[in-house]
Amino acid sequence: MDELQNILSQLDPRRMPRHVAMIMDGNGRWAKKRGQNRSDGHYEGITSVHNVTELSSDLGIGYLTLYAFSTENWNRPTEEVETLMYLIGWAIERELPELLRNNVRIHLIGDIERIPEGPRKKLFDCRDATAHCTGLQLNMCLSYSSRWEITEAARRIAELARRGELDPEEIDEDKFASMLPTAGIPDPDLLIRTGGEERISNYLLWQIAYSELYFTPVLWPDFGKVEYARALVDFQQRERRFGKTSEQIATD
Ligand code: FPP
Repeated sequence: MDELQNILSQLDPRRMPRHVAMIMDGNGRWAKKRGQNRSDGHYEGITSVHNVTELSSDLGIGYLTLYAFSTENWNRPTEEVETLMYLIGWAIERELPELLRNNVRIHLIGDIERIPEGPRKKLFDCRDATAHCTGLQLNMCLSYSSRWEITEAARRIAELARRGELDPEEIDEDKFASMLPTAGIPDPDLLIRTGGEERISNYLLWQIAYSELYFTPVLWPDFGKVEYARALVDFQQRERRFGKTSEQIATD
């Protein structure tokens, strides 16, 4: 049995996470270690995106959410931003046939209007072409930050209240969540961050209230199916209590 099959055999299919979110960090360091450009790291990172998407789909995971480009990433050197935008457009176009074969639906989250027209069109084309797919939903967070989405939601709520279309008394957690771009998507069960840093970096702050966090020093381009499967095994060993006691969970 190869290493991947061995790790996968430890997984309980009944306890698979419904939703996995990932912070793909470490592309730049991966390239630097090899004396290459940061862009080479991003290019290599696309292979990891392909691999985690494929494994998520094979394992029947419902939602995979990837932090592909943050609001703060716009502040990187222009050349790196341009390369990343080009790569994202190129990758999504190249992957489309495989996404369709695997019944994967693309969903875009973020301030997509800020993405340059060329890659933006490729993203919209891919989203539209996969709209009928019923397997894994791949959420791509682009020009996204959680404070951005929370601020936008607050603005929408205030606007509705100002127009008399929403009574402030009606605002509860469900109402607020329905104003976020993740409305209708279950909260992540597991958040994985590669690259050794142990922080959240303005990602899904509302949605990860009860997510299990998994940090690995492995750099994103080295994060393949084996590493992902290890994270899933680790997840299944955790006890999720959602604020209750162990005893309550055992009798639930
Ligand atoms: C973080 O590494 C990674 C990014 C800012 C971009 C992630 C993008 C990809 C993997 C490319 C394509 C994505 C899709 C969805 C097709 P970093 O540059 O911060 O690395 P460092 O911390 O080592 O500098």
